[in-house]
Amino acid sequence: MGKVAVGVAVIGTAAVVATAALLVRQRMRSSGRWARTRALVKEFEEKCGTPEAKLKQIADAMTVEMHAGLASEGGSKLKMLISFVDNLPTGDEEGVFYALDLGGSNFRVLRVELGGRKRGVVHQEFAEASIPPALMSASSDALFDYIAEKLAEFVADEERIYEQPSGKERELGFTFSFPVMQNSINSGTLIRWTKGFSIDDAVGQDVVAELTKALKRKGVDMRVAALINDTIGTLAGGRHSDPDVTMAVILGTGSNAAYVERAQAIPKWHGPLPKSGEMAINMEWGNFRSSHLPLTEYDYAMDTESLNPGEQIFEKLISGMYLGEILRRVLLSLAEEVWFFGDEIPAKLKIPYILRTPEMSAMHQDISSDLKVVDEKLKSILEISHTSLKKRRVVIELCNIIATRGARLAAAGILGVLKKTGKDTGKGNGEKTMIAMDGGLYEHYTEYRKCLENTVFELLGDTTKSSVVFEHFNDGSGIGAALLAASHSLYLEETS
Ligand code: GLC
Repeated sequence: MGKVAVGVAVIGTAAVVATAALLVRQRMRSSGRWARTRALVKEFEEKCGTPEAKLKQIADAMTVEMHAGLASEGGSKLKMLISFVDNLPTGDEEGVFYALDLGGSNFRVLRVELGGRKRGVVHQEFAEASIPPALMSASSDALFDYIAEKLAEFVADEERIYEQPSGKERELGFTFSFPVMQNSINSGTLIRWTKGFSIDDAVGQDVVAELTKALKRKGVDMRVAALINDTIGTLAGGRHSDPDVTMAVILGTGSNAAYVERAQAIPKWHGPLPKSGEMAINMEWGNFRSSHLPLTEYDYAMDTESLNPGEQIFEKLISGMYLGEILRRVLLSLAEEVWFFGDEIPAKLKIPYILRTPEMSAMHQDISSDLKVVDEKLKSILEISHTSLKKRRVVIELCNIIATRGARLAAAGILGVLKKTGKDTGKGNGEKTMIAMDGGLYEHYTEYRKCLENTVFELLGDTTKSSVVFEHFNDGSGIGAALLAASHSLYLEETS
């Protein structure tokens, strides 16, 4: 072999060795990263753990707080608000009533025709509008004027098909899904905002008075006959179709529960004892907090940076406004700590609330073999492309950890209410407890819903689980508001 040939061979060998060494180093680095990814995911999963024993402690803590909140105003983080609804619908309600449902970034106006015991809900029509984001932090007048304008449009539209009897004002059930201290069935002051609203001058104001003023300004002739929370509306709507309904749970942007309490078990109620002996209570369970809740550093950071730090801790673990945001935070920390999405941190991943829960749900429920929904969502929302199948699986794993924790905690909350009302142990007499459910999270996030229901049954055990039934009442709260407007109508004598 000549010298030149030997030289080329030596250089060639050296190049091969160098490339091989680079590959080995890269592989070691990537296997190191992968091991670190797995360790981080495992650690997160452990911190989010909700074993049965913990859920039972949480349910007990919920029961204790319910007692405290019923005992005195301010006695607990659970407000346990008295709704002034001491008679749930019977089915006899008749006439045409309106409902206005405001509880998130959309609101709805409904016109409901009630046909009494024989005909039930004869007809309903609705219009929907979104609240422009700027109005969520503007002024009380700006928000209520906007709503009143939409109501005016609805009424103008319907005037072509429906004529309000002369001399009779239109009557409205107003579902206002925020914490309100009721003073009567149709008045109440806003305690604080939740779910991303922050209109300072509305806090402490009577929301019915605010709406009524706006209706006047916009020339809408309408009387607010009932002011209710969405949980109370769902309870009322649910009871109208099934007499076994005694509890309602909303799992949507926010989360909350209402149930029927014995009036005598409400020490802070100083009014006359209702004939029914009962009162519907709006728990505002979103503000529940307990040392048993499995909070992680991501939850603490999300809470600190939220519009309402220190408040609505339970809601921030279980409801639709927050699940996607928790996922974004975990993914961002993987990107920062183990370069999960490559050498650069995807800019979009740094934008709070960009990853919404419906997108998380779509990824979680991706059953395609190459996880193309995950791929597509990462691309379209976060501008992250070329993820490996292995990484997409990690994304699904994280969705599962976050949704499972939320659903199991919500189940513990339900067990707490069942305990308070003595419905957590089967009496073997065939008595049913029907729970009226509503909200987009419950309706659309199937994995979440299944996990929630199965966990309630797991916690109740074999003897009791058959007595508890979940039923989805789509838009129960709208119908419920119309029903309660009917039962508190000024014209009751004429319609009954
Ligand atoms: C928030 C509100 C509450 C409402 C729930 C569901 O928790 O404070 O009033 O019922 O969201 O919409």
